[in-house]
Amino acid sequence: MASQLLATKSIAELHEQESSGNQLRRALNATHLTLLGIGGIIGTGIFVLTGTAAANHAGPALPLSFIVAGLGCTFAGLCYAEFSAMIPVSGSAYSYSYATLGEGVAWFIGWNLVLEYLFAVATVSVGWSGYAVSLLQQLHVQIPAALSNAPFGTPLGKEAFEIVRTGAIINVPAILIVAVIATICYVGIKQSAWFNSVIVAIKVTVIVLFIVFGLSYIDTANWHPFIPPNTGQTGVFGWSGVLAASGVIFFAYIGFDAVSTAAQETRNPQRDMPIGILASLVICTVLYVIVSAVLTGMVSYRELDVAAPVALALDRHNAPYWVGFAVKIGAVCGMTSVMLVMTIAQARIFFAMARDGLLPPFFGRVHPRFQTPSTGTIITGFFAALVGGLFPVKILGELVSIGTLAAFVTVCLGVLILRRTRPDLPRPFRTPWPRFVCIAGALVCSLMMVSLGPATWLRLVVWTLVGVVIYAFYGYQHSKLRKAANGAAGSPRIA
Ligand code: ALA
Repeated sequence: MASQLLATKSIAELHEQESSGNQLRRALNATHLTLLGIGGIIGTGIFVLTGTAAANHAGPALPLSFIVAGLGCTFAGLCYAEFSAMIPVSGSAYSYSYATLGEGVAWFIGWNLVLEYLFAVATVSVGWSGYAVSLLQQLHVQIPAALSNAPFGTPLGKEAFEIVRTGAIINVPAILIVAVIATICYVGIKQSAWFNSVIVAIKVTVIVLFIVFGLSYIDTANWHPFIPPNTGQTGVFGWSGVLAASGVIFFAYIGFDAVSTAAQETRNPQRDMPIGILASLVICTVLYVIVSAVLTGMVSYRELDVAAPVALALDRHNAPYWVGFAVKIGAVCGMTSVMLVMTIAQARIFFAMARDGLLPPFFGRVHPRFQTPSTGTIITGFFAALVGGLFPVKILGELVSIGTLAAFVTVCLGVLILRRTRPDLPRPFRTPWPRFVCIAGALVCSLMMVSLGPATWLRLVVWTLVGVVIYAFYGYQHSKLRKAANGAAGSPRIA
């Protein structure tokens, strides 16, 4: 078993597999990919978490936290760019680890990517439900609280090991939006990309509108002191607060890596993948830094610990009704496209894992007419709706972050390993200063993992154990790499 866990797939094999068997439609270019990236990135993070991060951790220094998290993501993004141009396959970090670190790590990462993508759809569906309910209220349509909240939650003020009943029945809007999104993804990548482009245009317009409106209401007194003195508790203001806030708002950057899962549907992935990943990351970092500076300039950071901080800042300055309404629409749109991109990504990870034999073949079934991984999309939609209907953002969001960070660390290390083991491979995009970028990326992401609480780590351990059991009883037995190696030489081949 140990040699099987370390068995790697050769790059040539990954390429060959990608061009044979079930084919997805090649319909995307660099612009689509950049929009897909922005679609996956801007959502709950900027519209919800900015307030918590400013009020509890960073104060007016929030733009610095966005720069720190953005830097960590840029290092990881450069590594993703190198891999995705070199191995343009739909499995993303899962396939990259299969080529570099072996089947065991590949399974672990593939299983963790479920935490990232499927759970992100669920998390964002809960945030979406909150904004949608408040928008409907503005239009005098009331949704009962019992039908728009999670029935399970964590007790207030305690370390969140315990899960308690909240009294609500189920979060119906969260379930409905996931069902709609899964249907769009089922029908086609082209339709999904078109829908995503429209939504991205709306949400970016709304963000620019907020910036333009907010600029004239900045009171520079709100920026003093820029870094409020630490209260004596690590992570509550001061420099440690700036770092703690960067851990919280890391969630806002998740999504750029999802671009890499569309490699098989990209016309010229060698050129377009790095553009899509890096351009979306840079555009979002710039927007995030400006929005956070404007937000903390418009109102005192102490007031921002609310569910809709951007809307609150506008209300404080008596923004015209339509501006507030537009921002809420922008937030709802933003979250919609995040769910769309994450559903696309999850279905493609399932597709790649099924093709390798680590998951049952139906996960990799491609729709004969739509040429989408249809069954993987339905499974993603079903489980995301179930989880989103039952649990709150707090529990889900941290799980998403830890799963994503684990994948980022692996991708950073994978680039470094492959530079040593296969320096000869053609690399259409090369990460600059690889030693520094890869090691710094792995370190920054590991530090952010450490900053997540023990309850999240415990859930990660439980999730991993479930994954180990599934691998032992299914993946190990059905691995195509193992079968091929046994057929050819009697032992798995280490490429
Ligand atoms: N980055 C995505 C969001 O903020 C996950 O919603």
